[in-house]
Order: sequence, then C-alpha cells, then structure tokens
Amino acid sequence: MSKLAWVLLPLLLAGAVAVALVLARRPPTRIALNVVSSLLLLVYLSITAGLGIFWVAQQHLPVFDWHYLFGYATVALLAVHLAFNFRIAWQWLRRRAAVRHAPPTVPPGPDRPRFGALDRAGPPASGGAGRRGAVGVLGVIGLAAYGGGSFWLGLRHGRTELRIEATGATADAGDAATALAVVERFHDFSSHTRSGVLRRAPSVDWGDPPPPFKPDDGRPALALPDPRGPARSGEATHGLATLSSLLWHTAGVSETRAGIHFRTAPSSGALFATELYVAAPDWPGLDAAIWHHDARGHRLRRWAALPGGAAALGLGSDDAAGGARAVLFATAVFRRSGHKYRDRTYRYVLADLGHALENLRVAAAAWGLPLRLLPAFDGARAAAALGVDESEEGVLAVALLGGAPAPPAAGAAVSWAPVPIAPDTGGTLGVTDAVHRATSLRALPIAPTAHAATAPARAAAPATAALVGPAPTGSSASWLLPTRTTRADADPLAVIARRRSRRRFARTPLSPADLATLLDAMAHPAPVLSPAVRIAVVTSAVEGLDAAAWVLDPARRTLRQTRMHGDAARDRARSAALAQDVIGDAAAVVVLSIDRAALAADPGGTARGYRHAFLEAGMVGERLYLEAEARGLGCCAVGAFYDDEAAALVGADPRLEWVVHFAALGVPA
Ligand SMILES: Cc1cc2nc3c(=O)[nH]c(=O)nc-3n(C[C@H](O)[C@H](O)[C@H](O)COP(=O)(O)O)c2cc1C
Repeated sequence: MSKLAWVLLPLLLAGAVAVALVLARRPPTRIALNVVSSLLLLVYLSITAGLGIFWVAQQHLPVFDWHYLFGYATVALLAVHLAFNFRIAWQWLRRRAAVRHAPPTVPPGPDRPRFGALDRAGPPASGGAGRRGAVGVLGVIGLAAYGGGSFWLGLRHGRTELRIEATGATADAGDAATALAVVERFHDFSSHTRSGVLRRAPSVDWGDPPPPFKPDDGRPALALPDPRGPARSGEATHGLATLSSLLWHTAGVSETRAGIHFRTAPSSGALFATELYVAAPDWPGLDAAIWHHDARGHRLRRWAALPGGAAALGLGSDDAAGGARAVLFATAVFRRSGHKYRDRTYRYVLADLGHALENLRVAAAAWGLPLRLLPAFDGARAAAALGVDESEEGVLAVALLGGAPAPPAAGAAVSWAPVPIAPDTGGTLGVTDAVHRATSLRALPIAPTAHAATAPARAAAPATAALVGPAPTGSSASWLLPTRTTRADADPLAVIARRRSRRRFARTPLSPADLATLLDAMAHPAPVLSPAVRIAVVTSAVEGLDAAAWVLDPARRTLRQTRMHGDAARDRARSAALAQDVIGDAAAVVVLSIDRAALAADPGGTARGYRHAFLEAGMVGERLYLEAEARGLGCCAVGAFYDDEAAALVGADPRLEWVVHFAALGVPA
C-alpha cells in the first residue's frame, strides 16, 4: 500500500463509517462528528509532532523549519481545545457506551438534531439567524480569498525559472560571457532572503528522493580490505589496501544510526549525493576497468570498460594524466540533494564534495601517495566514460592518484573552453543543470586559444610560517593570533574515522589558543583549486576577545575587526542562519566567503572559478572539522542561511564577496 494510502486510512475508515450510517438512515449527530473529528485531529497532530521530534532528536537536526514550529503551536492549541471539550467528549463516549448496553428508550425521531449546522440551516427565522448567515458568507469569502491567494502563489512554481539569453556571440568569448551570466544569476536565484519565499518559487519538481546508494544491479564486485587503521606511508607499491583506505576515508560509511548511513565526510542534510569512481589502468590487485565505489558494502563494482587513452576519460591528453596510476572521478547525484535543497542544490553538492576531497587529500598524504586535483577536465567526456547522464549526475571533480606529484609542464597540447550554453538551457533539473554546464569545460582538439589553460595559475600562497603574536587584548580592532599549538591527535585517519557534526555546545568560551589553531588549520596548506576563499569569524564567546566579526589575514596571522556585535552576536548569527540553534549556541561561527574578483583568476574562466571556490570552501571547512575533532572541540557545517544577512553579519559587501558557508564551533556539551 502506498504511503499516501496509509496516511489517509483512518480518514477513509471514518468517512466509510459515516457513509454507511447515512445509508442505514442513522446519520451521525453533530456532536458525534465533532468528537470523532477532534479525536482524529489529535491522532494526526500527535503523529506529525512525534515524527518531527523523533527525527530532530535522531539526526540532531535543529528546529529551524516553520513547519515544526507551527506544528508544535497547533498541538498546544489542540490540547487547550480538548481541555475545554473534554467533558463533552467524555459524556458523549459514556452515553454511547450506555446506549450500546441498554435498549433505546427514545427512538430516533424527526426532532433529533442531525448534521449539526445543517440542521440549523433553513429559512432565517430571526435577525440573529440573519447575522449568522452574513458572518457565514463573510467566512466563505475569507476562505476563498485565502485559498485563492495560496493557489496564486503556487502557480508561480517555475515561473521565475532562470532564463538564459543568447549573447549573440558565437566564439568562446561569447560562451564564457554566457557561462558567467548563468553563474551570477544562479547565485542570485539560489540566495535565501526572507522575502524570497514569496518572490520566487523552485524551478523544478524534484519528485521523490532517489535511494541513498546506487542500486545493486548485479555487476561483478570486488570486496575491499578493512579500511580502518593507520596508513603505511613507506609502502613501495600502493595496492588495494591503499585504495580501500583512500575511498573509505573520502566518503565511506563510518556509522549507521536510525537507518542513516553516516559517512566519513559530512554532507548537507545527510543526503550524500557524492559518488566515487576509479579508472584504474594499472593498479595492483585491480583489473583495468572503471570501478564504482559501493560505499554501503565498501566494495568496488566493475562499472564500465576503460576507454582508450586519457582523452576519452575527459583528461584532455595523456600528458595531462601525468603518469597517474589511477584517476578518481567524483560525481553528484543531483536529485539526492535536490528534493530537499531545490535550486540551492548545486552549492550544497559542491561544498559537500569539497569536504570529501579534503579527506582524500589528507588520506593520500598519510599513505605517501601523490595526489593531484585536476582543475580542467572535459565533464561531458568523463560522464560518457562513466556511463552517467550528466544532467542528473554531474562529474564535479577529478583527481589523479600516483604518478607525477606536480602539474605537467606548461605547453601540453590541450586547451580548454567553456561549454556552449543554448538559450533554452534549463533541462529537467532547471538551474542546477544550467549552472553545472556553465561551470563545465570541454577539451579543444586544436591548439591553445587566448584563454586556454594547461596548468592552474596559483595566486600567492599564504605564508606557512607561524608568526608568534602577543597575547590578545580584549578591545583591539585587530588581533594577532597567538602561537598555534600542535594537534593533540597525531593520526589524521583516526580523526577522519571518528569525525561527526556536533550541535550541542556548552556555554564554556573558546580559548584564544584553540581559535588561533583552528584558523591556522583552515588557512593551510595553500589553496588547491581556488585562491578566492576568505575566512571570517564571529566570536560570541572567545576568552579575551570582543563579541564581533573578524576577517582573517592568513599571511599576517591577524584578525581584523569588521563589525562589533557585543551582546547581539549570538542572536544576529542565529537569525542569519535561519534561526538554527547550532549557530546561536556556538562560541564562534566561521563564515567563509568568496572574493568575486579572485574568481576571474581561475585559468578555466570565472564560471569555472565559481565551482572551484565552492569546492575549496568545502576543503577549508573540512580542515576546520578535523582540527576541531582532534582537539575535542565541536564543529558543524551550516549551509542554510540568508545570504544578505550573512554578508551583513561579517561586514562583507555582497557586490564584492559572496558568503558561501557557515561553521559552528564550540566546546561540546
Ligand atoms: C555543506 C554542508 C552544509 C550543511 N548544512 C547544515 C545546516 O544548515 N544545518 C545543520 O544542522 N547541519 C548542516 N550540515 C551538517 C550535516 O547535517 C551533517 O554533515 C550530516 O547530518 C552528516 O552528519 P555527520 O557530519 O555527523 O557525519 C551541513 C553539512 C555540510 C557539508
């Protein structure tokens, strides 16, 4: 039986009984209808509230949904209603029991009231009845207006969809301009504002959520060795043990609770859209093929045949592969996140993946395996090689495992260009599909053009030497971080294995040394995919530091105050983050933004820079998670916030910077 049928079953049964009574010429009385509908109302509301409370408790998700809040208020009102009506209900039930056990003394007759209000309907006999009629008419008009208004808002579904106008230019420059326009409009479209719910409607009907794992379709599978345990960095040849560890620490299942398979990397809404594939032409223990990582069983499924050459995998040329022994593809199944996050999905899947990629980077370093994230690859070719539908499951990142530790020399015979976007782009997944294409590249089979990229140009990396600063002074407008302290837990893989999002914080303030170490951990190593990520922090409870917003200068290891918040710090941060308690209760909130001007420095173009900035922000966010976990502190990423209020919180100018990520920090309760 379908879910809907189960939900409607009690209502249908009650309706069937009512119809049967009417047919038997014993229609229910008004009070019977009142009592039965009140009891049904109680049952439905209790189940709704119970489910809400259960899921909030199990997933430790904060109560930020209007739905829950209104639900709880309604339950409270219902309790009051029942308290007032309890006597009536009780008497009615007792009378029913008495009637059932004793022969009726008063046979039903024409005077017996039936159907309550209907009984009273009739020609108005007095002025009072006339007034009641007028009130009734006004009530009907009010209800119609309410329903009509809701219907009108509902009709706006999809009307505000992102439209892509043709630029008129056919050259690559035109494609780049169109891609950038799509990105800018997507960002605006996917930004939360308080009034946005009335101004905008989701562009897509996402349907039912797909399963959290790819279904088992009987493809041959290879069990992987136990991935837990320390890395063996001296390994001469990396075999299945290394691959098993890498895949598991990137996105493996580390805990199963309440039917949810939690992973080594965090994921917005615990929806885990990321999928991993390995193209392994030459990996000990693996046949040459494309393998899919089945995270649930921690095994590799033989997915597809290896196409001939690196170009067919979307890498551009064999040079670009840099002698890698395996290529790891990371995709996102958009619908997994989409049914919850709608038009903001692309932001979430990128940030999720960034967190996972940082785990991959840490695990590869622990095993002493060279790893390189490719800034440019042909997404359509990669998707074709994996046999996935790019509009549903986009290839978001590619990493080379083994081989040359540094990028290949400039001058390799491959060039990259934006993907042309037709004016009617939108696909079945609307803006998600459009922005994925806008941030995708294609390999050109010809010599490099003006904006071609062969190797990523890096912005100046932040200084890695730790500066020693004086002790913080409470009211300074800039603050030099104190010396960073070494990590308490030296085994990075053990930290990844036990990492969890922590949402309950003690009122204990953070120590300045802890804050400095966390900020340092985020800022190092140097950016991998994007130089555009900026780090700010709102300090609600940090010893010796004003409750204010600060921006980090990683090179100077200095915090510069941008907004003084004082006692309002917690409330402002909570309110900007859709009233999430995890943010309001945090001792400090890290706010990551992207510098729009720096996006243009991306060798793949500004639109590609947008994708890279979100991935980089995710990587920075995961470094925060891991450092906090290692130090026994609590951390929780937060992607749901009002974009305009988030910018105001840290004093960022939205014309220059876009806030992309929050993270709560504190001493766990
Ligand atoms: C990009 C991103 C955004 C997130 N946004 C929120 C959020 O708005 N609120 C929240 O409570 N948790 C948020 N989370 C945390 C996830 O809910 C959490 O990672 C998920 O439930 C899995 O649990 P785990 O991190 O303990 O493995 C976010 C995580 C990520 C990676």
